[in-house]
Amino acid sequence: MEINILENVQAVAEAGADIVAELVTRKKDATLGLATGGTPIAMYRQLVDLHREGDLSFRDVATFNLDEYIGVSPDNPQSYRAYMQRELFDDIDIDRANTHLPECAEGQDPLEVGPAYEEKIRAAGGIDLQVLGIGRNGHIGFNEPTSSLASHTRIKTLTRETVEANRRYFGENEFQPELAITMGIATIMDAREILLLATGPMKAEAVEKMIEEPVSAMSPASILQMHERVTVLLDRDAASALSHRDYYDWVQEQKRRLLGRRDGS
Ligand code: PGA
Repeated sequence: MEINILENVQAVAEAGADIVAELVTRKKDATLGLATGGTPIAMYRQLVDLHREGDLSFRDVATFNLDEYIGVSPDNPQSYRAYMQRELFDDIDIDRANTHLPECAEGQDPLEVGPAYEEKIRAAGGIDLQVLGIGRNGHIGFNEPTSSLASHTRIKTLTRETVEANRRYFGENEFQPELAITMGIATIMDAREILLLATGPMKAEAVEKMIEEPVSAMSPASILQMHERVTVLLDRDAASALSHRDYYDWVQEQKRRLLGRRDGS
C-alpha cells in the first residue's frame, strides 16, 4: 500500500482527483469504480472543476458504483443513483447509459442483480480504478465485518452501526433501508488499481486496522494489503492512530526525490 498523509480534506480531494484525471486522460475509455458517502464528494467537486476548465472529458468513460440500497427507487433523492447524478454525473459529459449501479428495479429478483452486475463489469473489461471510502467499522462498499473475503456482488444486511452512521442523511420519519446490494470483496480486489480516501478522526481506528493489523474479515478493508496497487489518501485526523507514520512520510519523500531525478529536476 502507498500511504499518503496530507494536510486536510481539500488536499485529499485534489490528490484523489489528480489520480482519476491522470487515468482518464491516459485512457479515454477507462472504467471507473465509484463510491458514495460523504468522503468522495470533495473529490467529485474537484473533477467537475477540472471538466469545466475544459481539461477533462468523461465522454467515453464507463462507471460501476460499489453499492445501492434495496427498496429505494432511483428517482428517490436518497438513492445512490440520485447521489451520483447530483454529485458528479449531471455536471460532467458522461453518457448516463455508461453509468452503472447494482440497482434492483421494482419487480426484479434481488438475487439476480449480483451475478448480472458481475457480468456487466466483465463485459466492460473489468475496472481500471476503484475508488473507495472506509466505514468506521472497516467496511468497504457495504461489505460489513465478517463478510467473506472472497465475496462477489450480492445482497448484504447492513449492521446496526452502519444504519446508525447513515442516519444523519435521513429525515426523522423517512424510510431508511437496511439492505443493500454491494460489490463483493473479491469484486473490489479484481480492480487493476485501488484508491481509498479517508478523512476525519472517526476513521482513524478503521484506518489503523486496515494498514497495520492482520488481514481479517472483521476488518474487511484489511484485505487491501493483498492488492498490488493501492493508494491510500488520508488527512491528518484519519492518520492519527497510525504507528508507522514516520515511515509513510519518508516513503513519500523518497518517491518525490526519485520522480525528481527521473524528470531531471
Ligand atoms: P462516508 O462513508 O464517506 O460517508 O464516511 C464511507 C463508508 O461507509 O464507506
